[in-house]
Amino acid sequence: MASVGLRAIRKDFGRTQVIKGIDLDIADQEFVVFVGPSGCGKSTLLRLIAGLEDATSGDILIDGRVVNNVPPKDRNIAMVFQNYALYPHMTVARNMGFGLRAARLPAAEIDQRVTAAARMLGLENLLHRRPGELSGGQRQRVAMGRAIVRDPQVFLFDEPLSNLDAQLRNQVRTEIKKLHQDVRRTAIYVTHDQVEAMTLADRIVLLRDGRVEQVGTPTDLFERPANRFVAGFIGSPAMNFLSATLENGEIVLPWMRLPAGIAGSGAVEIGIRPEDLLAGDAAPEPYRFEALVRVVEPMGSEALLVIAVGGHEFQVRLMGRIHPIAGTRMLFAINPAELHVFDAATGQSMPVVQAR
Ligand SMILES: Nc1ncnc2c1ncn2[C@@H]1O[C@H](COP(=O)(O)OP(=O)(O)OP(=O)(O)O)[C@@H](O)[C@H]1O
Ligand SMILES: [Mg+2]
Repeated sequence: MASVGLRAIRKDFGRTQVIKGIDLDIADQEFVVFVGPSGCGKSTLLRLIAGLEDATSGDILIDGRVVNNVPPKDRNIAMVFQNYALYPHMTVARNMGFGLRAARLPAAEIDQRVTAAARMLGLENLLHRRPGELSGGQRQRVAMGRAIVRDPQVFLFDEPLSNLDAQLRNQVRTEIKKLHQDVRRTAIYVTHDQVEAMTLADRIVLLRDGRVEQVGTPTDLFERPANRFVAGFIGSPAMNFLSATLENGEIVLPWMRLPAGIAGSGAVEIGIRPEDLLAGDAAPEPYRFEALVRVVEPMGSEALLVIAVGGHEFQVRLMGRIHPIAGTRMLFAINPAELHVFDAATGQSMPVVQAR
């Protein structure tokens, strides 16, 4: 059992404020991902939870107990880093058991824990090898094994996949998800990759410049982004944005009007995800418009298009194996139910009240 709580956490390095007041409750067994652009404070926040940094102010709670003054080794957490830092001269088995030997556990117990973790990670046949004789993905699994054998209450991961190539990254990502389903420990995972965040998280904490922009399930952040920043960060390819005017509940675009389901008038920014621009016969009346297909990037079962209309370009993600030809004109439609509208001044999402 271990929940993790952050209460008004601040961290300054000298005169630089890095974490600017964060409150968060992570439930026992939850998988929470901290995501955000480089330098937003993800690693710092994780290191504060681990006890590798001291908070400037605020409290950190593990399992309901304030741990601000508890040294890292007594917090019952295990951390997996990006550079797995294995000992090159030790076998996989000795690497995995290293922390347990340091803690003076009996040899038989170490052996049993290492064997169990190796089985969980599919490393049974590699226990006698040295790190130099392993692939990157296998090394990362050994690093995870070293954390698992300690049977911590909380796992902390700091960009554990960033040293792996794209294919391995997907594979190990799936393994981490499986692992969490098997061992059911609280996990906090740091990444700057929104795809990793979406695929792994029970809940995502999106950070920017030392503050929380939004906390929620991947679906919450994708479908109901709190503001333009969240909307642009989550989703790949990224949401299309366009300045527009709200006039008595209608969005006025240079080439058409759309019902917005929002009262009032003023400057807004609209957001449309590439998959919400429907093409051809799928484009529902009355929100159809014709656009020039400028670029087609076929990707097998889908294609990414760049289309031009009314002096603007949009990215479109088109499902299906038959792809349009660049240079032709095609019908598209904006589905008003999937339109995001942001206050142009504040960037906050404006609640759309129409039926979805
Ligand atoms: N020991 C330190 N002394 C001074 N500044 C620091 C220190 N550690 C981190 N910082 C600064 O704090 C900010 C947040 O750093 P942090 O490493 O937490 O970012 P991050 O979100 O993990 O970024 P990345 O995605 O690049 O790993 C950065 O501006 C960084 O330069
Ligand atoms: Mg970092």
